[in-house]
Amino acid sequence: MIRKAIYKKLQSLKVALTKKSRLAKLNQMSENGFPPHMVSAVRFLINGQLDAEAKKVATFAEQRRQHIAAQGDTPVEIWYSPKPGSVIDPESRPLPGKVLNYTMGKVAFTGKNRKWATALHLISREFQSTSGIELGTCVGISAIYLARHAKMQQFITVEGSASLAAIARQSLQDLPQVHVINQLFDEAIDTQIVQSGTLLDLAYIDGHHEKIATIHYFERLRPFLKAGAVVLFDDISWSADMREAWDLIKVSAAFSHAIDLGAVGVCILKTTTEQPDTIPHYWNLQPLVGKFPIGQPHGWKD
Ligand SMILES: C[S@@+](CC[C@H](N)C(=O)[O-])C[C@H]1O[C@@H](n2cnc3c(N)ncnc32)[C@H](O)[C@@H]1O
Repeated sequence: MIRKAIYKKLQSLKVALTKKSRLAKLNQMSENGFPPHMVSAVRFLINGQLDAEAKKVATFAEQRRQHIAAQGDTPVEIWYSPKPGSVIDPESRPLPGKVLNYTMGKVAFTGKNRKWATALHLISREFQSTSGIELGTCVGISAIYLARHAKMQQFITVEGSASLAAIARQSLQDLPQVHVINQLFDEAIDTQIVQSGTLLDLAYIDGHHEKIATIHYFERLRPFLKAGAVVLFDDISWSADMREAWDLIKVSAAFSHAIDLGAVGVCILKTTTEQPDTIPHYWNLQPLVGKFPIGQPHGWKD
């Protein structure tokens, strides 16, 4: 009994020391050019501490998640990412994956969990993003986190499944700056961004997790991203193919910084005064925020 208690105490001391040394490392990085707007999110990923404003957003979003999850086995359709190397159609647009029958209980937890979605919130808030797009709404949980702060004026979120888009509209009903678009990603980029020439300072690519598709969607959005915009690539460790996408993205001369958080890759677009042909400063933060293993998606078996 006493041995067990001593062991537990030693373990918690070890955790506290690890956190302390990771935070010290983060401070050191800040002195060496790590983007200041990223610090809150990384600090939170290390120590789990949140200010009252962010806590409020998380509480609101998680209540909505629980409400959706409570509908348990009620069926709902979702577009599942295809196997790597899916055919490219004649217009060079990646073909979306299959429509699968999920349940409300499952879709509530398909996107980012509280921890990672809170990190997204802190990034959007600290960059003071005013105009954003999300590719992959699902039930709208990450959109709540990304768009629920004072500076966000316009946030477009795109979902291919009509039933998910309808649920997301309910999740986001008290955020008039958010527009849920029920289209495929490419169509939505045509109608919502290209036709209006909307300029964006935040993009979150979280659907159709295939290397070729991820890079395609970024390239389509690129002309509409403002200098210094933040681009969030979700699930960069979801599969070996997505990791290959990240390996290409992280050396793209479009960016000044590429930050590997394991679950998400964060890139910051260069400003006009930066050298256009240099590769980004690469920050591997997995040793600080926790290692993220490369996944093997289960939906590709058939
Ligand atoms: C991982 S989920 C998004 C989760 C959400 N961002 C969150 O964290 O709360 C990806 C969503 O993208 C949608 N999707 C996948 N491929 C698509 C495509 N090509 N066009 C439109 N929607 C697509 C799926 O139906 C699914 O709901």
